[in-house]
Amino acid sequence: MSRPKITIVGAGNVGATAASLLLLKDLADVVLIDVAVGMAKGKALDLMHMRSNEQFVSTVSGTGDYADTAGSDVVVVTAGVPRKPGMTREDLLGVNAGIIKSVLEGVQPASPDAVYLFVTNPLDVMTNLAARISGLPHERVLGMGGVLDTARFTYAIAQETGAAPQEIEALVVGAHGEAMVPLPRLSTVGGTPLDSLLSPDALARVVSNTVQGGASVVELLQTGSAFYAPASSIVRMLEAIVGDTGAVLSTCAFLDGAYGIDGIAMCVPARLGAGGVQGIVELDLDHSERAQLVASAAAIRAQIDAWA
Ligand code: APR
Repeated sequence: MSRPKITIVGAGNVGATAASLLLLKDLADVVLIDVAVGMAKGKALDLMHMRSNEQFVSTVSGTGDYADTAGSDVVVVTAGVPRKPGMTREDLLGVNAGIIKSVLEGVQPASPDAVYLFVTNPLDVMTNLAARISGLPHERVLGMGGVLDTARFTYAIAQETGAAPQEIEALVVGAHGEAMVPLPRLSTVGGTPLDSLLSPDALARVVSNTVQGGASVVELLQTGSAFYAPASSIVRMLEAIVGDTGAVLSTCAFLDGAYGIDGIAMCVPARLGAGGVQGIVELDLDHSERAQLVASAAAIRAQIDAWA
């Protein structure tokens, strides 16, 4: 069987870190493509120099030519500008939307059958715009946001409770931004729901640390936005897609009526495998949780309308 081929558009912090994790896990052959061609080639060469130490058989190459990306199984799009201190993800909309459009013009003809995973922020809007521009089937247009938000939620819960990450089952859905929806009632520590484990104050702190997790990294770095946890979240999704595992992960996926929401991509639990989204998992949300999800959808829709 031929090895999976994954193209990563954007060889910056997120893209190159994802490439490095993919190689360490020996998951696929990787092509890094960037308008900064020397950087893509240089990082690919640097990564290949790890090969004998880390004993992987996968390869990575750097390029500026979309012909080299042809026949990819998955295309991960991280091209774009990251946030600077004081910026929201939404502030990036105009410039990154233009970048997504030009990336699709290059990459889509070369890999018409690939699963596309968008990472560029504002993530939800980019995923929706990309679906509209590309005309790709909805199950092959995904965004990475919920896995990262869930990882940050899990970290905040671990910090507050002292529990090990393995004891925690957490979930964040909705928009990848201020309107995200952490679900304490459906998140557990050692099987106990979070909302019965923590005081309202502690719960509010955990939720705030989750929502502000990305901004906290931006404030500390001063020169860009988070990339280790985003890259790790990308690779978690790629493992499910390339390995056809059917893992259920919070994915920016198209809703065609699930949760009473239609025609918009937003983070919900989705079963991932070969071909992308294999199904949406519809949780039994209470009235308030459902209302938050609907508000998240409205926030994303407003941004799409503002740009279109
Ligand atoms: N085609 C290919 N690559 C491009 C293009 C383009 N049209 N435009 C920009 N790039 C590349 C840049 O040259 C740069 O190398 O995208 C890369 C982005 O890398 P960084 O600036 O390091 O940004 P990074 O931290 O990786 O974040 C990328 O992911 O998490 C999101 O908000 C983040 O939108 C941002 C994206």
